[in-house]
Amino acid sequence: MSKLNDADALKQLLALSYRLSTEKNTTKLLEDILMSAKALTHADGGTIYSVTDKNELKFETLVNDSLKLHMGGTSDTPINFDCIPIYIEGQANKDALVALAAATHETINIEDAYQAKEHNTSAARAMDKKTGYRTQSVLTVPLENHEGDINGVLQLINAQSDELVVPFDQKNTDLVLSLASLAAVALTNKQLILDMEILFQSLAKLIAQAIDEKSPYTGGHCRRVPELTMMLADAVNKVNIGPLSDFNLDNDEKHTLSVAGWLHDCGKIATPEYIMDKSTKLETVFDRIELVSAKFEIVNKQFEIEALKFPDKKAEVVQKQTQLMEDKAFLERINIGGEFLPQDDVERVAQIANEYKIERNGELEPVLTSTEVRYLQIQKGTLSDEERNVINHHIDITILLLESLPFPKHLRNVPEYAGGHHEKMDGSGYPRGLTKDQMSLPARMMAIADIFEALSAGDRPYKEAKKLSECMKIMGFMSLDQHIDKDLFNVFIHEKVYLQYADKFMNKKQIDLIDETKIPGFSPLIS
Ligand SMILES: [Fe+2]
Ligand SMILES: [Fe+2]
Repeated sequence: MSKLNDADALKQLLALSYRLSTEKNTTKLLEDILMSAKALTHADGGTIYSVTDKNELKFETLVNDSLKLHMGGTSDTPINFDCIPIYIEGQANKDALVALAAATHETINIEDAYQAKEHNTSAARAMDKKTGYRTQSVLTVPLENHEGDINGVLQLINAQSDELVVPFDQKNTDLVLSLASLAAVALTNKQLILDMEILFQSLAKLIAQAIDEKSPYTGGHCRRVPELTMMLADAVNKVNIGPLSDFNLDNDEKHTLSVAGWLHDCGKIATPEYIMDKSTKLETVFDRIELVSAKFEIVNKQFEIEALKFPDKKAEVVQKQTQLMEDKAFLERINIGGEFLPQDDVERVAQIANEYKIERNGELEPVLTSTEVRYLQIQKGTLSDEERNVINHHIDITILLLESLPFPKHLRNVPEYAGGHHEKMDGSGYPRGLTKDQMSLPARMMAIADIFEALSAGDRPYKEAKKLSECMKIMGFMSLDQHIDKDLFNVFIHEKVYLQYADKFMNKKQIDLIDETKIPGFSPLIS
């Protein structure tokens, strides 16, 4: 084998440094480092190790040309060797050259493992006994970054020259050292990026958890939506028939979608709890029905005084008191907002307000203020239009917050994916009134997940848990009405995402039998 000249060595180093900066997979990166060092020095074999958080060396890739071995790394043969501790009882582990190099930050160059007096090479010799190999020259180099941290160890075995095993000479050693420092910096950068990525994802989860904790009305919504979104994304990746058969999200896009899922309702941070948790029509920070009831008690006392003053009117007053208590009970009942309030009842609220007066500061005032009348007249649910707007405003805040973040390139779609979950395919959604064509497929996935989670949730105090079949029926009508993406909904059914989700998150008693053919708007996928 001819010796590498300087120009070739430089070329190899440059090629590797390019790969170091572009390779995303750390396992592959480590293997690249090993292979380049092996080629540069014409070594017969070698091993590369990473450092675990327990300060042990983990075998990443092992190669040996003579033994035709390629284990770990990109090979199909996993390495099952135990990790090697760098320290034993606080002292450098001298039983393994790789551990010693890592502990001392020093390169160890041995001409012949069988003659080495200063180092313990018994492990190599024991291995040779099993394989019939003869380990001779050994170069062990710690991968030390610019901050003096060791993030791996590279070991090369049996440098060769003209088919003979020779020691690793100074030039080769220097080359490997340059390569090792390049590699160490690349590994450090990679680790830093990974750490930041994990930190950011944890922060996204933390925000979701804080919102879920903030209000029982959101329950586990922020936690479940990302999970359901990813289930649907995996199903879309898997499906190989129908209009979405060619669509595929790569790992980066899936990561973006997951982050978007965790942050999709982050704007709820700014939604006042008294509105988010509003359980009755008159509730603000407290339920104003108490105030209304107290005012009715005052009216009642006024009637009692009237009866005392005018004994001949007693029967009439008692009748008025009965009516008063009925009206009070009526208001207390409709304050709950459980059912739709018919027009007659809306008018009755106004009549009651006019019917009774209370005396305050010498003046007679209607028993209900105009605000109380307006809130009690809410026909559906407990929220006034203004309060509904405040709730809906969370999506504007979500978009505002997310668009203000300097996302790196691979996460730049987070705001679009997260901000579209209240849009409808026909353009009737909010806040932007986007249509299907104006939304990315991942954003449309999030919209389905958001609705299905809310429909199927069994942990919201304001509603009974729906059966799975009911949820599917409602979703089916939404698909027919072009509120949700029909093609995605078909995959949702075809790949049984609804069942996968139900098994994980819904109560057993909610899960009933689903006849897919009966789901409105479902068209079976055909190839
Ligand atoms: Fe939302
Ligand atoms: Fe949501």
